[in-house]
Amino acid sequence: MGDQAKLSAGDQTADFAVLKGSVGPDVVDIRKLYADTGMFTFDPGFTSTASCESALTYIDGEEGVLLHRGYPIGQLAESSSFMEVSYLLLNGELPSQQEMTDFNYTISRHTMVHEQLLQFYKGFRRDAHPMAVMCGVVGALSAFYHDSTDISDPEHRRISSHRLIAKMPTIAAAAYKFAIGQPFLYPDNSLSYTGNFLRMTFGVPAEEYELHPAVERAMDRIFILHADHEQNASTSTVRLAGSSGANPFACIAAGIACLWGPAHGGANEAALNMLREIGTPDKIPHYIERAKDKDDPFRLMGFGHRVYKNYDPRATVMQSTVREVLDALKVDDPLFETALQLEEIALNDDYFAEKKLFPNVDFYSGIILSAIGFPTTMFTVLFALARTVGWVAQWNEMISDPGQKIGRPRQLYTGPVQRDYVPLEKR
Ligand code: CMC
Repeated sequence: MGDQAKLSAGDQTADFAVLKGSVGPDVVDIRKLYADTGMFTFDPGFTSTASCESALTYIDGEEGVLLHRGYPIGQLAESSSFMEVSYLLLNGELPSQQEMTDFNYTISRHTMVHEQLLQFYKGFRRDAHPMAVMCGVVGALSAFYHDSTDISDPEHRRISSHRLIAKMPTIAAAAYKFAIGQPFLYPDNSLSYTGNFLRMTFGVPAEEYELHPAVERAMDRIFILHADHEQNASTSTVRLAGSSGANPFACIAAGIACLWGPAHGGANEAALNMLREIGTPDKIPHYIERAKDKDDPFRLMGFGHRVYKNYDPRATVMQSTVREVLDALKVDDPLFETALQLEEIALNDDYFAEKKLFPNVDFYSGIILSAIGFPTTMFTVLFALARTVGWVAQWNEMISDPGQKIGRPRQLYTGPVQRDYVPLEKR
């Protein structure tokens, strides 16, 4: 028998198995807790709860480690490509050369969207936030691709996963084009996944689009950095939506909605807006004081993380990528200097040190994305595009798990106890 955990409450005692992963903290298996004791656990925000078993991504927040299928994020960002990381996340192993060629081919053959779907955009206001458009259009995919929504069929799951990964750049670029009033561009399958996305976003039908290799590489790296991050809020949302048997397009739309929030995917937009508000380094101390003031809702956006209590390894890659992009594009963005100084001042401040608040992936990404030419409203869309691969990989893992159940948390009820209805005229 493996390790056991004992719980004593009042006159009750119960034993629970302690389960071990391949690495990382053990978990106490409390699935029988309610049946055995009549009690629930209470864990708002799931700060101590492992909601599922997964073999995709491992994070050691204390050490600042992030692994996809065992491979460190730094190595993947340095040497791999977003398509290769997508294959890895979906299939568990790095592809052979033939498998890579086949995967690239398959994804490129799904890049177009149903022509009628493009009509959808016209129903939105031009000033709509592109994440609002993404929620709507991605959800609408389930109205177009009925031939891949039978979640019990592995082949349907495979095709819908490929469709989602392949169509997301087309849908995201169209959201941008619609907002600025330019015509949509069809995909060009002779380009890389990322090159095709940049062309659909920044190209125009009137002339050839010139792809900048450094920008293509940086964008691809940003996609790698956002590909998956274990059971974060949006991924948990996708899993919860999927646990009821909902189709994958609807589940990913749910993930997009969750990602939009400023505490999650919206933080990259908020971080750049904050840097713009701070402006010059002389204003930093004022904002640091505001971030520390309990009565002020202001927080340093791009700082702090639920899991990382050390430097976010993605932020390290992001910081070096900022330099590469600014140099390649010959852009001199004074906000980069402000960001570097803000980071240094915060890291040397007791408040941030004690609470273990470090820069996260979003702290520097906005500077790169803005140098490439994206408006801030598109930042979270790019996150959604990249995270789609993690979402579909996690969704597939959940559906294939024979022990999978509908997600149904319980609660600590604090409302009124039963009472009798009083007719309106007697109140
Ligand atoms: N600035 C100032 N104080 C902060 C910050 C911050 N950015 N983040 C956390 N704190 C304080 C917080 O006030 C709390 O203080 P106290 O213990 O005195 O009440 C303490 O640190 C712990 O914070 P928490 O909110 O309980 O921690 P959490 O794990 O629930 O929240 C977080 C994590 C990411 C939501 C939070 O750090 C935050 O709001 N950061 C800014 C938003 C941001 O950059 N989000 C992107 C996350 S990375 C991308 C992604 O995965 O989506």
